[in-house]
Amino acid sequence: MRDLPARLRELLLETGYTVDGVRDRLGTVAATALSREETTPALRVTRDGDPLGTLIRLWWLGTPVEAPEWLPVEALAEGGLVTVQDGLVSAAVHLQPWETGGYVVSDRKVRPGDPALREDHVVGAGGASANLAQLVSRRPAGRVLDLGTGCGVQVLHLAGRAEEVVATDVNPRALRMARLSWALSGIEGVEARQGSLFEPVEGERFDLVVSNPPFVISPRGRFTYRESGFEADGFCRDLVRLAPRFLSPGGTCQLLANWLHVDGEDWRDRVGGWLAGTGCDGWVVQRDVQDPAEYAELWLRDAAEQGTPRYRELYDDWLDWFETMKVTGIGFGWITLHDSGSLDPVVRVEELGQRVELPVGGYVDEVLASVGLAHRLTDEELLGARLALAEGVAEERTGPPGAEDPSRIVLRQTRGLRRATQVGTVEAALAGVCDGDYPLAPLLAAIAELTGQDADDLLVRAPEALRPLIAEGFFHISTP
Ligand SMILES: C[S@@+](CC[C@H](N)C(=O)[O-])C[C@H]1O[C@@H](n2cnc3c(N)ncnc32)[C@H](O)[C@@H]1O
Repeated sequence: MRDLPARLRELLLETGYTVDGVRDRLGTVAATALSREETTPALRVTRDGDPLGTLIRLWWLGTPVEAPEWLPVEALAEGGLVTVQDGLVSAAVHLQPWETGGYVVSDRKVRPGDPALREDHVVGAGGASANLAQLVSRRPAGRVLDLGTGCGVQVLHLAGRAEEVVATDVNPRALRMARLSWALSGIEGVEARQGSLFEPVEGERFDLVVSNPPFVISPRGRFTYRESGFEADGFCRDLVRLAPRFLSPGGTCQLLANWLHVDGEDWRDRVGGWLAGTGCDGWVVQRDVQDPAEYAELWLRDAAEQGTPRYRELYDDWLDWFETMKVTGIGFGWITLHDSGSLDPVVRVEELGQRVELPVGGYVDEVLASVGLAHRLTDEELLGARLALAEGVAEERTGPPGAEDPSRIVLRQTRGLRRATQVGTVEAALAGVCDGDYPLAPLLAAIAELTGQDADDLLVRAPEALRPLIAEGFFHISTP
């Protein structure tokens, strides 16, 4: 078959093998069962032998199907996408439609009871892939690097807004599958290079570096798709420390990471320390923390090792190893570095457990700008600046019924990171009046008069109270 990827893509689209097509066909019950690794309901709703059901069984569920005459089986076998035996066609890869409208090729999904994973297993696109894609800035970029491209999924998100994309991976099988993913998604011109960390791009600079790295922290690097073989969380640390050397001025690096919580050490100091000295502004967000047992179980399950004869031994080993390092938990989150060119870079490290507006990439540049501005504006500059309440900030007042004044005032963002913070009456009054028309100082003077406070004293105190509210995006500095 000439130009197999293009013709296969056409066939997949015609058949309705798309994200929506698969979702509609499976329905909620079968899809939810699949998330519990139960395939029976999905097999039941795809048993009619129609083209869409057949493709879902073949490439989504990994079940052999009888060779249909409308599928170019021979060409697909030559292309390494299926194998054929006794008239039955089996998937040689996992081929999944992706939310960008493209397709992702990886190794077949492992399910409980499957044979052990090969060390160079290429993992498919999943929750973490989507998580990073949602985090990455939507700003158009010139040169982009996807480090640890795996099945190539990040490139599907980046292709439309980058002039040039370089994708690297230490695993040559991953690069082969990534190329297939891009071809099936109609993406051309991506440069795929093999090598570890930044080795394949030595001496080059990028406007954007993204990475969903092999962040899993385990006693030994058994699987390339998730473990680097570096000690503990050393791979993510080195990635962060090295990244600035590969950023163009104004460039950004965004990655997912895991980090250790060690007894007697604040995790903020640990991860903050990775960014200190990079010369970049930074934003670290912890989205989740697991205890050592939950963590080991999660990743043993991920490799379908639960229930195998080695399960207990591997689990025990993992916990022993954590114990020797005094690990109390493992954090998961996002790291963003921005080469702002400032001689006084700022790093914000925080925990965000709440649901946030997606995609974060739609406003991540604003988040970084706010953190930088709040840190670098002098008190005098701040008092002369025009502040505007951010869009979607609501005020909540609570107190005893009938009381004249509330005992608690909270400003709550209904958009973006959806933060909430308790404020005093001055900040609340400011939130009510500042719309970017007047500089801060006269507004504060007016509030002082209304609330019976000393204006000079308030002008001295206000910058310290307002700085965190600017850093957290409750107020923007508005240019008149
Ligand atoms: C979690 S997968 C990410 C795949 C894909 N980018 C995604 O977002 O789903 C991590 C990838 O990093 C690659 N990798 C492992 N060790 C590496 C290293 N030392 N340098 C570069 N890539 C590495 C693995 O082969 C794997 O493809």
